[in-house]
Amino acid sequence: MIYGKRIRLAAVEREDLPTFVKWLNDPEVREGLAMYLPMSLAQEEKWFENMLERTADSQPLKIQAQEGQAWILIGNMGLFDFDHHARSAEIGIMIGEKKYWNQGYGTEAVTLLLQHGFETLNLNRLMLRVYEDNLRAIRCYEKSGLAHDGRLRQARYHRGSYQDVLIMSILKSEWDDRKMMRDVTDADK
Ligand SMILES: CC(C)(COP(=O)(O)OP(=O)(O)OC[C@H]1O[C@@H](n2cnc3c(N)ncnc32)[C@H](O)[C@@H]1OP(=O)(O)O)[C@@H](O)C(=O)NCCC(=O)NCCS
Repeated sequence: MIYGKRIRLAAVEREDLPTFVKWLNDPEVREGLAMYLPMSLAQEEKWFENMLERTADSQPLKIQAQEGQAWILIGNMGLFDFDHHARSAEIGIMIGEKKYWNQGYGTEAVTLLLQHGFETLNLNRLMLRVYEDNLRAIRCYEKSGLAHDGRLRQARYHRGSYQDVLIMSILKSEWDDRKMMRDVTDADK
């Protein structure tokens, strides 16, 4: 387990898959994802079997929020497309339980994954792609310290028109600077 303040990241289990399928078929959740066809449990089970063949570093993790003594499944996230030469990887995240949106859980989860990527996996650059109209996600990533690298023009076709895909990233040196800032701020309290 990787523990944050209100959440933890844990290995995905087979029993989590029906919940993932429910989220992946929710139109509001799918708006921000690269999915445009209905998803079945059988497809998700196939994804799970393939996922187990990946290296441990690139296996997705489930996000659980602490509610009293219980840990509630609220989403999943992970690193993929590792470039071991450049020491970089791409981030993916979905908080599927919508009642947990806009409460800082996404920012906390991304920050926890950045910490894992930089301080455990020793990566140097973490990046992600986000659709230009996914303002909640963009704000969440900005709050987590990711900078705007640029945009892939008209890289997504969605609801009858083209959209830009934004590229955002954070470097290990920037993570260290932010951490130093946080430590100073905490010391001031
Ligand atoms: C994107 C996602 C991970 C963000 O998680 P979250 O827990 O909702 O994010 P946070 O609460 O940490 O931050 C969201 C911020 O966006 C703001 N926001 C929400 N809607 C907004 C909008 N329409 N315009 C601008 N800002 C908006 C929130 O107010 C909050 O900022 P604040 O803390 O300064 O007030 C989550 O909503 C999600 O998984 N969505 C569905 C799948 C998805 O889109 N994944 C991302 C693919 S790139």
